[in-house]
Amino acid sequence: MGKRIDFQETTNDLLTRIDIHNKFGGRDIDQWMLDTLDLKPGIRILDVACGGGKQCVSFHRYLRGNCEIVGGDVNRELLDQAEIENAKLGNPFKIVQLDFDQPFDFPSDSFDLVSCCFAIYYTNDIRFTVPEMHRVLKPGGRLFTTGPMTTNKKVFYDIIREATKKEIPLMPGSSRYSSEIYDEIAATFAKTETHIFENPLTFKSSAPFMAYARASMSEDRRLWKSLFSTHAEFEDVMTKIHRVADEYIARDGEIVMTKVVGGFVATK
Ligand SMILES: C[S@@+](CC[C@H](N)C(=O)[O-])C[C@H]1O[C@@H](n2cnc3c(N)ncnc32)[C@H](O)[C@@H]1O
Repeated sequence: MGKRIDFQETTNDLLTRIDIHNKFGGRDIDQWMLDTLDLKPGIRILDVACGGGKQCVSFHRYLRGNCEIVGGDVNRELLDQAEIENAKLGNPFKIVQLDFDQPFDFPSDSFDLVSCCFAIYYTNDIRFTVPEMHRVLKPGGRLFTTGPMTTNKKVFYDIIREATKKEIPLMPGSSRYSSEIYDEIAATFAKTETHIFENPLTFKSSAPFMAYARASMSEDRRLWKSLFSTHAEFEDVMTKIHRVADEYIARDGEIVMTKVVGGFVATK
């Protein structure tokens, strides 16, 4: 078994970060995903860890509804959000409860694309989850996963380190993504390609940077427990980060935080 990752995504935190990426980023990650995948009409897609349904909506729009999309996630609150997006489009998606640490409730060889964006590194055991994704893909079908590379958001971590004088805890995303996860995918699939997406987010004031920091580090995300455990400690860390962020803005006029995302495309 792999290492247990103690993680629970909350709806508000996820939606806040998506909103900040849209408002302050120069590039559109969904467009990059669609350009990278060059999808053909008529396909069956399984979006694993679909969250609030962001990728389901992008696939549906791109293929003008000429596809079958199943979105699955472990989090009921996010599935409810995905159902809201589904209803806005006339319910084209099938939204299901799916835990990628358990066998998927789908027959083998049944999807043309399995996508899993910003989530696969929360698996308990990558040697279970990747073969399960492979199993449900048709021969020639593709897996698409995204996640942060090790150079992701360097300034974000620099500011936190300067503010707290503490080391940044191990982030399962960047630490597992380009090593363990790539290796397992490459070992399981016939062919694997890596694509890199870079998106600079430019903050001219510290307020949106702080909104991002809060949404990334809020209490229910337990990855940061070496920096805070109580709500008061969380607020204290936020005050310190705010001070350093203000110093960066005063010195440089802006904070440019570059998202560096890897997209692995693997063919069965
Ligand atoms: C950062 S969010 C990404 C959501 C969506 N793909 C997006 O890009 O907006 C991570 C997602 O992984 C999901 N997740 C975490 N552990 C999971 C598990 N064991 N099985 C399925 N989904 C899981 C969370 O519920 C959350 O929706």
